[in-house]
Amino acid sequence: MTAVSDVSLDPIVYLNGELVPLSEAHVPVLDRGFIFGDGIYEVAPLYPHASGRTAFRFRHHLARLARSLDKIGIVNPFDDAGWRELIERVVAANEADAGLRADQDAIAYVQITRGVAKRGHAFPAGIQPTVFVMVTPLNLPDAAQRAQGVRCVTAEDRRWLNCDIKSVSLLGNVLMAQYAAENDSFETIQFRDGMLTEGSSSNIWMVKNGVLYAPPRSHKILEGIRYGLIEELTSECGIRFEAREIAEAELRAADEILVSSATKEVLPVTQLDGRPVGNGKPGAVFAALYAAYQRAKAKEAQQAQQAQQGVESESRERVIA
Ligand SMILES: Cc1ncc(COP(=O)(O)O)c(C=O)c1O
Repeated sequence: MTAVSDVSLDPIVYLNGELVPLSEAHVPVLDRGFIFGDGIYEVAPLYPHASGRTAFRFRHHLARLARSLDKIGIVNPFDDAGWRELIERVVAANEADAGLRADQDAIAYVQITRGVAKRGHAFPAGIQPTVFVMVTPLNLPDAAQRAQGVRCVTAEDRRWLNCDIKSVSLLGNVLMAQYAAENDSFETIQFRDGMLTEGSSSNIWMVKNGVLYAPPRSHKILEGIRYGLIEELTSECGIRFEAREIAEAELRAADEILVSSATKEVLPVTQLDGRPVGNGKPGAVFAALYAAYQRAKAKEAQQAQQAQQGVESESRERVIA
């Protein structure tokens, strides 16, 4: 068995119709995901509550998954109900046999590649996509990171121009994450032609004079599921939001910078290239949006619990009737 660094557990994963331990899950080397990076992925948080788990903003994750598949011409192997059922199966298997605690935050990783074929660039006819699902514990940022904020560095965005596809071809992003790591930083914030794009695995937000700004949705960024969520939360919090191009100089003069992603939720950036952002402390807009984010999680959990109770009482009524 090949050692997989940082995988202490051996989660139960789904691969092409089967539930197997990760250590026994194998794909042929001619899988186009391995040979060409010809595939897409999705990452969705699963938050526990009293009667199960909520796949947070799952409808939006599934819509993005469908868009990514569509853009690269792979037929979606499941409908939304099928994906929900599959994730539930993988969660249940991990709770039963792989040590995932029912009260633990978790993350669902879904990957679909075009499948296995003789090597050749253009799409081969008649092959089945490879479908992989993994659910592992999620360690959200801790209170200290939220209280102090995180350090980021900047770099030129040298990736391709289809960043709206959540592609497994992530070399550009990998190099940017490595650059952050080598500079003892949390994330690399990228600029293309002098304008803010995004982080290596996150969206970036700027606050100036109480207004929240983000680069507009386009092929130059991945539209995070938190992009739409934070946009919604601004109206709840009475914060003005504007999607527009942000020049590098503007970002460097920001009052606050925020970073968002499924695994980080929303975090304040308090140092950029070694200089303090604003007064060097997390700001009021971050505090308001973080609190609203937690309320959104609680609200979805409550709705899921109510839906669950509705299903249970309906089935009790059916049994009684
Ligand atoms: C390049 C990139 N941009 C943005 C995001 C944020 O997306 P989400 O909020 O859906 O996690 C990610 C997440 O991994 C990403 O990889």
